[in-house]
Amino acid sequence: MVLTLASILESVISMNILAFESSCDETAAAIVQDGRTVLSSVIASSADMHTIYGGVVPEIASRQHVEAIVGLADEALRQAGLTKGDIDAVAVTYTPGLIGALLVGVSFAKSVAYGLGVPLIPVHHVRGHIAANYVAHPDLEPPFLCLCVSGGTTALVDVRDYTHFQVMGGTRDDAAGECFDKTARVLGLGYPGGGPMDKMAQGGNDKAFVFPRAHVADHPLDMSFSGLKTAVLNTVHNARQKGEELNLHDLAASFAAAVSDSLVPRVMEADRMLGYHKIATAGGVAANSRIRAELTRACQQAGTKLWMPPLSLCGDNAAMIGCQGYYEYLAGHTAGWDLNAKASLDIAKG
Ligand code: KG4
Repeated sequence: MVLTLASILESVISMNILAFESSCDETAAAIVQDGRTVLSSVIASSADMHTIYGGVVPEIASRQHVEAIVGLADEALRQAGLTKGDIDAVAVTYTPGLIGALLVGVSFAKSVAYGLGVPLIPVHHVRGHIAANYVAHPDLEPPFLCLCVSGGTTALVDVRDYTHFQVMGGTRDDAAGECFDKTARVLGLGYPGGGPMDKMAQGGNDKAFVFPRAHVADHPLDMSFSGLKTAVLNTVHNARQKGEELNLHDLAASFAAAVSDSLVPRVMEADRMLGYHKIATAGGVAANSRIRAELTRACQQAGTKLWMPPLSLCGDNAAMIGCQGYYEYLAGHTAGWDLNAKASLDIAKG
């Protein structure tokens, strides 16, 4: 094992971090010990309340965070068998996300940290998603390449160290998750749509519909999903106008193939460029069975090691924030009481 400053500090600094996540429609609290041991993790989701609108309504999400966050903090302590006095630091997602939703978590975390007299650690949400891999896989250490795919992010990230990141490529327009959600909405599959679309694709013919795989001429690692989204929506609307029945299993399978074909070859190209031959995945879309299967196959062929978080850690949770918070703390990244939420911020600057 290579001795880094982080690995030396890890062996001497022991701490319980109380972590909060509220960037979108999940309110979550967790207690993580020494970065990788999750003592408790609880999540409340307002997804059901957004279903009828086909997407997250920011004001509803914020109000639900306010309702849930105090109870979740208590529950996280109860499940971990700890009291407030056992908490050594508080970590919170402060960017990127819905600003009103983030503000609930940030304000609450600040008040808890202030009240307990412990450090406050700001965590970038996508860094947290990457850290879900550390929770699930004790053997994984940077450097590695991470495919980050969620409702708001699609990026190939060079994870150079626990707190040093470089984006190698990403979407120029919609995130892959947004594309899943909008397609699911037009098919009446509810929100969030990625899971139901994944189920619908099972047994479908992935060649039944020809959907575009976009290329960005000046940057081969960049992607574009807005054309794919438009193509699927046009297919559905045209069929409806003509009164034709579409085979939804075939449609979902063809759609998943187009997303996977846009992601997997670029991930493998980035892997070749970096030469780590270590890949991890992160974010809600990383739960997709087609993407998981294609990436597994490509990594086996290339002799590259692959880590994927279990489905339970792909979506938003606070355990990943507590884990990343530990490494941010070791790197000296703490915040003052003037910490503010930010709707967007490059992962490299987070
Ligand atoms: O990481 P996440 O929970 O929240 C964000 O940080 O955005 O990701 C949510 C996204 C949604 O767009 C949802 O539809 C998608 O992840 N998703 C999936 C699957 N499960 C969730 N997309 C494709 N296939 C899935 N199985």
